[in-house]
Amino acid sequence: MKDIFDFGKKIDDYAVMGNPISHSKSPSIHTLFAEQTQQSILYTAIHVDLGGFKQAVGNFAATGGKGLNITVPFKQEAWELVTERSERAERAGAVNTIKIEDDKLFGDNTDGVGLVNDLMINHSIELTGKNILLMGAGGAARGVLNPLLKQNPSSLFIANRTPDKAKDLASDFSDAGNISGGGYEHIPDEKFDVVINATAASLQGELPPLPDTLLNDNASCYDMMYAAKPTPFMLWATEHNAEKVLDGLGMLVEQAAESFYIWRDVKPETKTVIEKLRKELEL
Ligand code: ATR
Repeated sequence: MKDIFDFGKKIDDYAVMGNPISHSKSPSIHTLFAEQTQQSILYTAIHVDLGGFKQAVGNFAATGGKGLNITVPFKQEAWELVTERSERAERAGAVNTIKIEDDKLFGDNTDGVGLVNDLMINHSIELTGKNILLMGAGGAARGVLNPLLKQNPSSLFIANRTPDKAKDLASDFSDAGNISGGGYEHIPDEKFDVVINATAASLQGELPPLPDTLLNDNASCYDMMYAAKPTPFMLWATEHNAEKVLDGLGMLVEQAAESFYIWRDVKPETKTVIEKLRKELEL
């Protein structure tokens, strides 16, 4: 593997750390980015035992590693461990990207910008001036709020099974835009332009209780999960005539592209990588 990407330059080490990690698509994505941009990198997946995260990062840095992606369940621990944070990481309360420079660990969070780029650039979905409904108030929802609000939506409502968590999350971000939150029964009686599912419901084959009259005529529905088959929320969106019904595969590749850019200062092209992953998913 090292030979393939050695364009006459020293190979820099990167990795994704998580638990579980064996199904991570990050090594394939970053290897495709490296081929495409002729960057000499080696990107591996590292399984980290619960309780062993700090040690694992220390070992990786000590052997000259240049950068890490961090996934479940270590994103909050990574936030605590880093020595510097970007504004979006600060607000997300979670770090999914670490850039290592000497004894400095710079922490960023590219999940939200990954979502926003997939919506706006790949799918031409406008967010400015729109009514957005975000389902879920866990780590995944928190991670995307700052970049979503940066687009100046007209309103953003967070709906969650446990209403108080949505209210608390909305109040944490109240300085950043017109944001409120509550239970599904508290969703304002208005039409939404963009509905994003950041709950874990799709993983369980479940669908949060959404009113039938939720969607605007040209609504876009986005599930941050992805799978070979449409999720229950995507099926609901199709039944309710959403104009665009999307899963989170593009977000996965876009967040990776932003991490790659942070490390290498080169923007990889994402369209062909998304298409390749989509084909593999459908096999
Ligand atoms: P993540 O890091 O993926 O966001 P999390 O922090 O555990 O994971 O949050 C999971 C989110 O999915 C929560 O908003 C959760 O709702 P609660 O806060 O009420 O637990 C939501 N969720 C999980 N299963 C759900 C289901 N079957 N229906 C609706 N919401 C669900």
